[in-house]
Amino acid sequence: MTMTTRYTGLIERYRDRLPVSAETRIISLGEGDTPLIRLENIPRLLGRRVELYVKYEGLNPTGSFKDRGMTMAVTRAVEEGSRAIICASTGNTSAAAAAYAARAGITAFVLIPDGKIAMGKLAQAMMYGSVVIQIKGNFDDGMRLVKEVAGEAPVTIVNSINPYRLQGQKTAAFEIVDELGRAPDYHCLPVGNAGNITAHWIGYSEYACGGRDCVTEACAFCNGECRFVSGGPVSTSRPKMVGYQASGSAPFLRGHMVDHPETVATAIRIGHPQSWEQAWQVSRESGGWFDECSDEEILAAQKLLTEREGVFCEPASATSLAGALRDIRSGKIPEGSTVVLTLTGNGLKDPDTAIAQCTQKPVTIEAELDSVKRAILDAL
Ligand code: F0G
Repeated sequence: MTMTTRYTGLIERYRDRLPVSAETRIISLGEGDTPLIRLENIPRLLGRRVELYVKYEGLNPTGSFKDRGMTMAVTRAVEEGSRAIICASTGNTSAAAAAYAARAGITAFVLIPDGKIAMGKLAQAMMYGSVVIQIKGNFDDGMRLVKEVAGEAPVTIVNSINPYRLQGQKTAAFEIVDELGRAPDYHCLPVGNAGNITAHWIGYSEYACGGRDCVTEACAFCNGECRFVSGGPVSTSRPKMVGYQASGSAPFLRGHMVDHPETVATAIRIGHPQSWEQAWQVSRESGGWFDECSDEEILAAQKLLTEREGVFCEPASATSLAGALRDIRSGKIPEGSTVVLTLTGNGLKDPDTAIAQCTQKPVTIEAELDSVKRAILDAL
């Protein structure tokens, strides 16, 4: 007899650690289980002895980590009888909300900043059939409006202030520990609204938590009453959490909210992060830090990763590499460390920014052998 184990998404995989019951109808597109790729060429280039991995979240069904949270948020919204969901978004949340709403047969309303989201993301929101509302304002304006309207209309908010979003997203940390056999020493990721850094910390904490006899100090997420303890802790440690922001949108570096955020990494063009307190807590508890990267550093890191490792992520995602490169070079992240970088979204989401930064443009030639030969010789 042959046994097949078809992967059916992260809720099924981690169901004993997620808020679902046996009766719950799960809305899934097979999200999660993304590759943890060990970088080979970049560490060599750096000349530093670090074990450097990227968690390629761009390979989720809609091309970003948002699918992890959305499978959970939409599953629970449907279970609770909701017929419509709503979010503000810099693009990826709207793509995920639209896709999971389509799957569930409910309506998604998405508020996006007019002209400031990457083309691929807009195409997704439109194709999946959501109601796309472009606002003459930024993400933070959209977030405020979503909160206001949800108080007056029968719609469920699926931004990361919806607690089920973080529950879904924490599974990325589970996958990393399951695969490495331990928690990394450092986990670096881009920070916008700060939901993802918070979600990862929940995941790492739950895996390190032993419930009543908890070995983890000050595990604020369980207060010693963690219900996810069958068999005891999976991991004996948690990583230092390092959050990188784009310089023009860096409230965690400024120490206060930023009213007019700007950056080429439109996904993290956010000045008023919703998980402000939580992210500070993560940083303190984990012994990590925040830092900022310029747009130039972000784009250079995106190109480096694509050219040297064959991994194409969107600009916001490359912020984690841009920051980590600097901290590895300086020794702040010491040699001998195991480091995981989250690549939050797929490079195909934002073809305009990618093409604009390629100095080597395609050549156009006659469709004949001699011209092809000449083009090859010219390039050698
Ligand atoms: N990277 C990408 C590609 C994102 O889309 C986002 C957030 C982040 C990083 C930051 O994650 O907000 O949890 O700190 N995008 C949201 C959106 C805001 O609307 O798609 P965070």
